[in-house]
Amino acid sequence: MFARSVARIARPAAASIKARGFATASRATAAAGSRMAAFATAGAVAAGAASYAYFQNVQSPIHADAKPIAGVKGGANERTFIAVKPDGVQRGLVGKIINRFEERGYKLVGLKAVVPSKDLAEQHYADLKGRPFFGGLVDYMTNGKAPVIAMVWEGKDVIRQGRSMIGATNPLEAGPGSIRGQYCISVGRNIIHGSDSYESAEKEIGLWFGKAGELIEWEAANAQWIFSDN
Ligand code: RTP
Ligand code: MG
Repeated sequence: MFARSVARIARPAAASIKARGFATASRATAAAGSRMAAFATAGAVAAGAASYAYFQNVQSPIHADAKPIAGVKGGANERTFIAVKPDGVQRGLVGKIINRFEERGYKLVGLKAVVPSKDLAEQHYADLKGRPFFGGLVDYMTNGKAPVIAMVWEGKDVIRQGRSMIGATNPLEAGPGSIRGQYCISVGRNIIHGSDSYESAEKEIGLWFGKAGELIEWEAANAQWIFSDN
């Protein structure tokens, strides 16, 4: 009985994954077909490639390489870049931070531990270049004493809500219910970063998750219980 209900719930998602996989496979087939056009047996070869590409896509997670990389501004698939900084990792707060976004109803579509290069950190904080703390900030993010936990979260208004959940830059000004207000005291060790605008999200997701296949598109089974209106 239980297994049958699970199967019923799972089926639409599986069907849509297959549909999207097939669309990707069609593109792959078109590319494969054009490369092989010179061969007399092109039709047969392309058909074989199509089956293989389709098989690969239905077996694998669906990679969300579609643009815009930060989703649609204001839409249900808006995305933001959130990073637990090395002090948050050292203090064992990664799980608590992930928990807040999960419990709010947002969806994790990208996650990795990174010791960023100096170049990446400087590009990420390019707007702060010239500030007296810039060198120290870049060193603290890149020195490898702990990684940065880089994430992309998705959902309606997630950029603005993410900033609100994080709290003010200076933790002494952050509301007590915010992440920085609950866990931090010093501005130089405020444990978490969040994109401050749609444009920042586009830039930052591109910097940290810009390679093909780094973000995963998936459907939350409980989405209707979070996003529906009456
Ligand atoms: P973030 O980019 O990390 O989310 O922080 P934010 O938007 O709240 O603040 P922002 O002005 O972008 O500053 C970036 C980070 O630089 C460090 N900072 N240190 N006086 C200082 O020592 C100082 N001021 C800023 C903080 O880690 C801040 O989050
Ligand atoms: Mg900032």
